Amino acid sequence: MNDRYPFIVVEGLDGTGKTTLRKGLFRLWEGLYGVTPLCVLTTNFLATDQAAAIITGKYQPNAGNHDAYLSAIAADKRATLERLVLPQRSARPVIADRWLLSELAFFAVKHGMKVSKTYEALATRLTTAPDLTLVLDLETDASMSRAQARQGDAVRADWDVHDVQSRVRETYEAVVTKPDEFPLLGDVVRLDARRPRCEVLLAAWDVLRERHLVPSLTAQVEGGENHG
Ligand SMILES: Nc1ncnc2c1ncn2[C@@H]1O[C@H](COP(=O)(O)OP(=O)(O)OP(=O)(O)O)[C@@H](O)[C@H]1O
Ligand SMILES: [Mg+2]
Repeated sequence: MNDRYPFIVVEGLDGTGKTTLRKGLFRLWEGLYGVTPLCVLTTNFLATDQAAAIITGKYQPNAGNHDAYLSAIAADKRATLERLVLPQRSARPVIADRWLLSELAFFAVKHGMKVSKTYEALATRLTTAPDLTLVLDLETDASMSRAQARQGDAVRADWDVHDVQSRVRETYEAVVTKPDEFPLLGDVVRLDARRPRCEVLLAAWDVLRERHLVPSLTAQVEGGENHG
């Protein structure tokens, strides 16, 4: 591992287990290294003048607010990179619960926009890629029933329905199979999310280890840097 901590993105359909995996990675970093990751979301409302455009564009998408929404999420992501991700990387890993892939899918499904076009528009404003985008893959039926089983009121009638989720999954699939065309996703790795929670977490941790995105525990102990 080099002198900074990784920026890791977790993506997947609603209910595939992104938050569960994010919390698991958070606890592993804390427990093994005594380092508390920073967790961010796909929008963080740091570009405050863009907040209204984000809410309207997300919940009432139409041809009239499409451009404003695209520009608002680019501004918000840029502010998130500049104010949270980049300054924190020397101190802690940053884990994002959804990032660019989700936006590409939203514009493809809600606005019929080609992923290459959405990517191009976002890429003009963003220069930093995550080290890794983990994509939790699960059949739509299974992810929807997991999403419905959750507590709270997070299911949306215009989004959490079979045909929409299937199209989102197809979009993910199309992007994930051509990672070279989307360098701002970083290294893209698909994880089979049908497995039990602990196996998904272990698989994700193995991916981080293989890519040297976690410090080796031996090095930590020898260097006396293990605060855990
Ligand atoms: N590997 C798994 N096996 C079985 N159930 C799981 C698994 N991972 C998560 N779950 C359960 O599925 C539900 C959805 O998980 P979670 O909230 O992590 O998904 P999510 O991808 O964050 O969803 P959303 O996109 O809506 O935020 C939760 O009840 C969670 O406990
Ligand atoms: Mg979640």
